[in-house]
This record gives sequence, C-alpha cells and structure tokens, in this order.
Amino acid sequence: MTVTLGTPLSPHATKVMLLGSGELGKEVLIALQRLGVETIAVDRYDNAPGQQVAHHARTITMSDPAQLRALIEAEQPQLVVPEIEAIATPVLEALEAEGRVRVIPTARAARLTMDREGIRRLAAETLGLPTSPYKFCDSQEELQAAIDGGIGYPCVVKPVMSSSGKGQSKLDGPADVGPAWQAAMAGGRVSHGRVIVEGFIDFDYEITLLTVRAQGADGQVQTHFCDPIGHIQVSGDYVESWQPHPMSPAALDKARQIAQAVTGDLGGQGLFGVELFVKGDQVWFSEVSPRPHDTGMVTMITQHQNEFELHARAILGLPVDTTLRTPGASAVIYGGVEAAGIVFDGVDEALRVPRTELRLFGKPESFAKRRMGVALAYDADVEQARVNAKQAAGRVRPRQA
Ligand SMILES: Nc1ncnc2c1ncn2[C@@H]1O[C@H](COP(=O)(O)OP(=O)(O)OP(=O)(O)O)[C@@H](O)[C@H]1O
Ligand SMILES: [Mg+2]
Repeated sequence: MTVTLGTPLSPHATKVMLLGSGELGKEVLIALQRLGVETIAVDRYDNAPGQQVAHHARTITMSDPAQLRALIEAEQPQLVVPEIEAIATPVLEALEAEGRVRVIPTARAARLTMDREGIRRLAAETLGLPTSPYKFCDSQEELQAAIDGGIGYPCVVKPVMSSSGKGQSKLDGPADVGPAWQAAMAGGRVSHGRVIVEGFIDFDYEITLLTVRAQGADGQVQTHFCDPIGHIQVSGDYVESWQPHPMSPAALDKARQIAQAVTGDLGGQGLFGVELFVKGDQVWFSEVSPRPHDTGMVTMITQHQNEFELHARAILGLPVDTTLRTPGASAVIYGGVEAAGIVFDGVDEALRVPRTELRLFGKPESFAKRRMGVALAYDADVEQARVNAKQAAGRVRPRQA
C-alpha cells in the first residue's frame, strides 16, 4: 500500500506515530520528517531522543491498553510504528481490525515479537527454521528439569520479556541455575516469572541481516537484503558492529532463506533486523525485530539509504535501495556516569580520527551502561573502520555537568 504524502500541520497531513522514541526512533522520525510526514513521538518519559525532533511529543505508559487506545484515537495517525517491544499489542490488533490504523509491519508481528515466546514458537515450530534447542519455564524447578532433560550445559537463560541482555545469563553448570533464575526475575521487563532456556550455540560469528519488505512497481511486496552486519555483544548488549561481514555463499544463501521465511510470515511492509548465528555453512535463527536494529546504526555511514530511511520508505510504500556505499563500523558510547544532563568532553578529539562521525542521542539521563551515543567510521577496509570507530568512541568522555 502506498501512502499519499501531504503537508504537515495542515488538514492534509500524513500522520505517523512512533511508539518508542529512543535513538532508533529518532532516526526514523528524521527520515519521515524529510518526506514531509507529520510525526508524533511517544515514549514513557519526557524529552526522549525522538521527541526532540518530532512535531508532537506525547508521554504515556505504552503497555497500558487504555492509555494507548486513548492516544491513538485522539491523534488519529494513519500509521502506527512500534519502536519497542513493551506495548499493549492487543490494542493495536483491535484498532487494526477496526480499520482505524495500519500498524507497522502488522499488529500480529508486533504481538509475536513482543516477547521471546511468540517469535521462537513461530520460527521453530510453525516455520521449522533451525534454532537453538529451547524450553520455556515458569519456576527454578522447571528450569532445572529442562536443563537436565536435554538442554544441558552450557546454556543461556533469558526473561521472556527483556532486551539488550537484561536478566540474561550463561550457565556452565548446576551451580549457575539459582543465580540465573534470580537474575532473570530481577531483569525482566514485566514481573511475570517466565524464562526461556536455550542450548548454547558455539557460533563462529553472529550477524544481523537487515531485510526490507517494500512495494515494487507492480504493487507487490518484494524482499530486499542489506549486506550482512557483523557484531559483538557483551553481556547480551551490542558494543560494536560492522558491514559487510564476509560469509560463505552457502551460509549467506541460508541466512537469506531464513530471513525471507520469517519476515514473509510476519508480513506487512517495513525493515526487519534478523539475528542469526553462523558456524561454517550452518545458520541458526536467533530472533527478529520488525523494525530497525541497534547493530544497524552502522548503515548511517555504510549505505546510500540507511536502515531508518529504508524503514520510512518501505512503510510509506516507496521504492528502496539496499546497496552498500562503503565498508564501515560502529562503536557504542556508554554513559559511564549516573547523572542527568551530562556533557561530553573529547568530541573534537574523537572527530579527528579520520573518516568518522558521531551521533549523540540527547538522552536526558545517563546511566553507567546506558547507550548515549555511537561512533561511526567508514574505510575501504572494514577492519580499519572498526579500529577507527572504537578509537573515536573511546575519545568521547561523558561526565556530570
Ligand atoms: N543460544 C545462544 N547461544 C549462544 N549465544 C547466545 C544465545 N542466545 C543469545 N546469545 C548471545 O547473547 C546475545 C543477546 O541475546 P538475544 O539477542 O537473545 O537477547 P536480547 O536481550 O534480545 O538482545 P538485543 O535486544 O540486544 O538483541 C546474542 O546476540 C548472542 O551473542
Ligand atoms: Mg538480540
């Protein structure tokens, strides 16, 4: 479906609401603004990064069905674009069914990817895609039984609802089960005690395959792939990414088949971040975001159309181009301090590293492990780009004002 573009702040505006307005939402909002879309940035706290660049900023609890419905009914956006997982997705399904809004990519996709269970069961049980062995457990006893009953050690325990590695542990033996259960209970986003335990995959590398479902000239949705993005996760949180990551033709082919299958089932239009583990020519599906992916921030320097522009174009029904412009890399800048309204020293020194750029997200509050910015580097050689991105990131010194 193609959306007619109008004039913002007029009766003929094309209105798009972002549910979640962090650093990824901010870039989607900028891409939409550039196409003359009227934007509404929603988050759970005031002055979220995306709220700073949108026409309208709204602060609500997005997991509260009544608040979410009331806001969508009041604002009447044509498109609702989830940027986070913790959303009252039944409201989105109801409003979509009533024909009131279009949810990106679909309300069903938002529901299935909202926690680890919906998407894992779809991928492994419905679509038959290769994944790590897994079990869902509601108590420490069930967890122990699942491990003893076949998952074995090492394994990984994660709250069903969490991201960025929160509440996630790797278990090497029985002594780790109790602490892992406790960590999952403390780190889950919604306090219901359900976890997934997964067999540990000893992969050679992991990638994000950005996959775009966009409308072609014939009106049919076509699937486009970006070059694979390699990344490194520390305690389940991304610290570094680069593009392209070299893959054997067989592994790349399997990765694309998996991405095609899972995004095809989720449907709709938009960009997806498909997370895959690779060992030799073997590929496992890990998870998928039906929206831009944090590791994909590297595309702000590597692609003609970055992942946010691709998402904006795809959801509006416009053509996309996923070609790589140059190899490049990204490196995360953490807050390091716990303070509000921090300042950044060393930005000039950081940008003296050749062929680099910075994004400072403008988050009102910093935590030690909160992602506050990212350094980007391009180079003919992806390894050199990684060195430069890390060097630039390391030169930025956030501190209390
Ligand atoms: N079964 C597994 N075997 C080996 N490593 C794993 C496994 N599951 C997760 N990991 C590692 O932990 C990282 C984070 O896991 P996962 O993507 O499931 O969590 P997440 O909290 O959703 O992270 P994010 O939201 O940042 O993508 C993975 O990218 C991978 O490096
Ligand atoms: Mg992940």
